[in-house]
Amino acid sequence: MTLMTFKTCMTSITKTQHQTSFFMRPVQMVDTKTQYQKIKSEVDGAVVQVMESSAFINGKAVHDFAADLSAYLGIKHVIPCANGTDALQIAMMALDLQPGDEVITPSFTYIATTEVIALLRLTPVFVEVDPGTFCMDPSELKKVITAKTKAIVPVHLYGQSAAMEEIMAIAKQHNLYVIEDNAQAIGCDYTFADGSKKKTGTIGHIGATSFYPSKNLGAFGDGGAIFTDEDALAGKLRMIANHGQSRRYYHDVVGCNSRLDSVQAAILGIKLKHLDKYNSARRAAAEYYDKAFANHPKIRTPFRAAYSNHVFHQYTLLIEDGSNSAQLRNGLNEYLAGHNIPSMIYYPVPGHRQKMFEHFNVSSVSMPVTDWLTERVISLPIHTELDDEQLQFITAKVLEFLKS
Ligand SMILES: Cc1ncc(COP(=O)(O)O)c(C=O)c1O
Repeated sequence: MTLMTFKTCMTSITKTQHQTSFFMRPVQMVDTKTQYQKIKSEVDGAVVQVMESSAFINGKAVHDFAADLSAYLGIKHVIPCANGTDALQIAMMALDLQPGDEVITPSFTYIATTEVIALLRLTPVFVEVDPGTFCMDPSELKKVITAKTKAIVPVHLYGQSAAMEEIMAIAKQHNLYVIEDNAQAIGCDYTFADGSKKKTGTIGHIGATSFYPSKNLGAFGDGGAIFTDEDALAGKLRMIANHGQSRRYYHDVVGCNSRLDSVQAAILGIKLKHLDKYNSARRAAAEYYDKAFANHPKIRTPFRAAYSNHVFHQYTLLIEDGSNSAQLRNGLNEYLAGHNIPSMIYYPVPGHRQKMFEHFNVSSVSMPVTDWLTERVISLPIHTELDDEQLQFITAKVLEFLKS
């Protein structure tokens, strides 16, 4: 028997028993290992070059990656740093905000966005999100602006852009800074009303991103970057990320030590060349899911805003079953786990209900959309390496659990 016939035979035997083949790769939330295997020689070569150069900190690889990323994004300055949380913190430090100044951000986001606001002794003001895009709702934003508001931090959640044109117009009207949290949406294009396009992260005064391994552009460790078109801001951001020094051993402001190391930069430089292809692969997986779940009475597939080409950092469903929604969603999460399919609840507790913000008296703030989403969201595996067999298996198990 040839290997081909053996494989076909095994597939048909096992498929009737388990609706999947013996050879199906285990389903993972993110499969960075298979992705690496496909670009192994490129990545290994770039890493060896750094090791041979011994320029581990601030080496050529860091400068090359920053230049390549700024060309890709169409922005003047890219300042690499240690992670996405630092990127947000450094961005806020560069704006000379004073303790008690208010910074508006969604409650429905990863904690890093809001945590740095409190860390800098600023006041987080939570704003509702749009129930379709899951991103900051511009009409709600207007309602929470006060005389103390100094900055707005929209988050391009799950890979879809916030309504940036409207947010920028509101910011301009009130003379506020905008820092985009682009950790989940690198490569996403925003289309303005006049048809022009910009990459998310380059629309506000500052953009911040993360290269955490599972991100659309992920390193093999931690990493982050800050973007701006403004020369003066770029100088400040660079200085703050480097102990506040203008030149070596002359420290003008209090800063921090936040560096992207050369090995990570070399890897990211290789992966950046594949980013558009990676984002297309995520979109293709999302389309497979969309089709499989279309018109299901208990599933709402992700809404795609016309202005954003969603890059699907997450593929997040809403499970709808009235007052039983959270229970059904949690049941699905457990059922999938029982079939070795990971799924995640991003995020089970919104910012305004986190203990760390109790002293801001935010738990009583009314956030009906955020609370509604928190009970219903479930993210399915999405990455660049999902194949049709895995997608078929995942969708079949979801539908099996939710059959009415
Ligand atoms: C929306 C958002 N903001 C900020 C961050 C923080 O990035 P990092 O983990 O690199 O610090 C993340 C990462 O998970 C994120 O998803």
